[in-house]
Amino acid sequence: MKLVAGNSNRPLAEAISAYLNVPLAKAQVKRFADMEVFVEIQENVRGEDVFVIQSTSFPTNDHLMELLIITDALRRASARRITAVIPYFGYARQDRKPAARTPISAKLVANIIAHAGVDRVLTLDLHAGQIQGFFDIPTDNLFAAPILARDIKEHLDGGNRMVVSPDVGGVVRARALAKRIDAPLAIVDKRRERPGESEVMNIIGDVSGRSCILVDDIVDSGGTLVNAADALLANGAREVYAYITHGVLSGGAVARIAGSKLKELVITDSIMPTEAVKVAHNIRVISIAPLMGEAIGRTATESSVSSLFD
Ligand code: R5P
Repeated sequence: MKLVAGNSNRPLAEAISAYLNVPLAKAQVKRFADMEVFVEIQENVRGEDVFVIQSTSFPTNDHLMELLIITDALRRASARRITAVIPYFGYARQDRKPAARTPISAKLVANIIAHAGVDRVLTLDLHAGQIQGFFDIPTDNLFAAPILARDIKEHLDGGNRMVVSPDVGGVVRARALAKRIDAPLAIVDKRRERPGESEVMNIIGDVSGRSCILVDDIVDSGGTLVNAADALLANGAREVYAYITHGVLSGGAVARIAGSKLKELVITDSIMPTEAVKVAHNIRVISIAPLMGEAIGRTATESSVSSLFD
C-alpha cells in the first residue's frame, strides 16, 4: 500500500500515515510560476495499491486539480489501483438543478475524478447520500457520527441532551446521531429568503431547559448555526452546542461564531483548520484520522468498511 498526500490537508495525511504505520510516499506537488500544478511521484508505485489523500476544500479548484494531476501521474506510473480519499468533497452542495439552466456540478466533478483514472473513492459525510451514485466507480461514504457521538458522551451531561437539526433537510442525519446518544430530537424550521442568508422561523419540539446539540454536515458562513442557536435560546434552551463534520468556515465565519451565543462548535479535521479556527475560544477540532486510516486499511485488505459503523 502507498499513501500520497496533496496539499489540502497535510496534517491529516500525516496522522493517517501514523495510524497505519505507513509513511507518505515521496512526492512533489507544487506550482509553476504561473500557478499551474506540477506533480512528481518520487518513488516506484508500479503495481501498488495507492491511496491519494486530498480534500477538495478551499481553494477548491486548485485542490481538485492537484487530485486529478496526482492521479494522472500515478496512472502513468502503473499504479495497480488508485483510491481517492476525499474527506471533504467540495461542490457537493451543487447536487441538483435549483433553477432552469443551472449545472449539476457535483456530478460533473465526480465524472472528472473517475475519468482522470481514480478506481475508487473514500469520502466522509457527503452532503447528500445519493451523491455516492454520481460516481460510476465504487464509492464508500463514511460517517463521522460514531466519532461525534463519542465526543458528546465524553463532554456533555447525559440527562439533558437534545439533538437539533438546524433545518428540515438535515433531519435524517440528526436523528441518526440522536439515536446513537439516546437523546430526543428537535427541528428548526428554517426559511431562506435569499441565497446566502438564512432565517429561523420556529422550533418543532420542546427545547426548554435542554442542552441542545445542533448537528449538520457543513458549517460555511455560520449563518445557519448562529441563527438556530439564537432561536433555540429564545425558546428556552439552557445552552447550545454544535457538532458539524466539515468546517468550511469561509469569509467571516470564525468571527461570527466567536461572537455568537454558541457555547462550543465542534468540527472535524476533514478540512485543515486555519490559524483563526485554532485560536477561536469556542471552536474545537476532533480528528477523523483513525476513522479514515481504518477505512483505508480495510479497503487495502478487502475487508468490510460498513462494519465500522455497526
Ligand atoms: C445546507 O444544506 C448545509 O447542510 C448547511 O446547513 C449549510 O451549508 C450551512 O451553511 P451556512 O453555515 O453558510 O449557513
